[in-house]
Amino acid sequence: MSLFLDAANGANTPRPPIWIMRQAGRYLPEYRALKERYSFWELCRTPELAAEITLQPIRRFGLDAAILFQDIMTPLPPMGLEIDFIPGPVFKTPVRDAEAVEKLVIPDRDEIAPYVAEAIRLIRAESPVPLIGFGGAPLTLATYAVQGGGSKDYDEFRQFLRYAPETAHALLEKLTEVSVRYLKLQVDAGAQAIQLFDSWAGLHDARTYREFAKPYNTRIFEALEDYGVPRLYIAVDALHLYGEIKDLPCEVVSVDWRTPLSQVRPLLPGKVLQGNLDPAVLLAPEKVMKEEAERVLRAGLGGPHIFNLGHGIMRQTYPERVTQLVQVVRAFDRTEVAERV
Ligand code: CP3
Repeated sequence: MSLFLDAANGANTPRPPIWIMRQAGRYLPEYRALKERYSFWELCRTPELAAEITLQPIRRFGLDAAILFQDIMTPLPPMGLEIDFIPGPVFKTPVRDAEAVEKLVIPDRDEIAPYVAEAIRLIRAESPVPLIGFGGAPLTLATYAVQGGGSKDYDEFRQFLRYAPETAHALLEKLTEVSVRYLKLQVDAGAQAIQLFDSWAGLHDARTYREFAKPYNTRIFEALEDYGVPRLYIAVDALHLYGEIKDLPCEVVSVDWRTPLSQVRPLLPGKVLQGNLDPAVLLAPEKVMKEEAERVLRAGLGGPHIFNLGHGIMRQTYPERVTQLVQVVRAFDRTEVAERV
């Protein structure tokens, strides 16, 4: 076993394991060097490159888990959606009506992304730490597919949910089925945990979440039940949804930086908490960063904890800060501090 898998399965480990959302990416010079030679999709679709990028932060920092280098958009082009990255995803033709949903293909499992299975096998052969696979939650994938790309308030998508709820459900159905196939493919290839990214769930009120997100997330997690891998979930800015999220059949909930873990703990009984340093704190001076990281470590006491940021690492972050952060987390002794409290 490993510190990460132990904590993800509910153990109160002597210190929390640490990994970082978006730990592979543009803040690393070795990633930028590859990005100069290849497009984002080329990096994703070439198993050797995807494996290399996944392992870059592992070699550099001594993190406790690797996360597969791909994007939540990876399974969508085989459904018939053309997507460019500039640098966020942009859909050539957004999905706006029943006919467009009807046309979406549900590919066979082995046609979704064979290169992902190959990348996972390459990573497993080399990685000293467990590998986390991942996918986008159906509501978040639908948000991008309907809006057509990133947006300030996702107005098109939120209008679509109200004008065409049945079409929205048909779209969510298809995205759920493809996600289940895609995540099973990752676990079969060797992924040792799965995180579902529901980045935009927090836009909605609890009623809307209950109708358009919860049943689909539940189905995905239930489909993975027999695979025996820990299931992780993140919704950002979603404190108002924890009354629903607490029921999801997953082991771990990742919490953003807005609320201390000690306040979240009673809202999510039985869940492992992951998080939740503000990514902006990695832009602060070393001393400030250390104090803030220790505050998160102490707030995480009282139950199983996986240390992470509250959302993805920022592009301007100095890699050195991550080195220092890993040192702080590794030096923390949960048993000792718990006795002192
Ligand atoms: O965490 C990792 O290191 C694994 C790789 C990973 C990427 N995207 C690579 C990537 C993961 C886990 C994701 C998830 C993802 N992608 C999410 C969910 C997490 C979140 O942030 O809420 C979302 C919403 C996306 C969609 C997406 N892809 C966006 C919004 C962007 C632009 C990001 C930005 O910072 O501008 C991307 C592109 C992307 N995905 C990059 C990387 C490394 C940058 C591409 C580049 O190099 O130009």
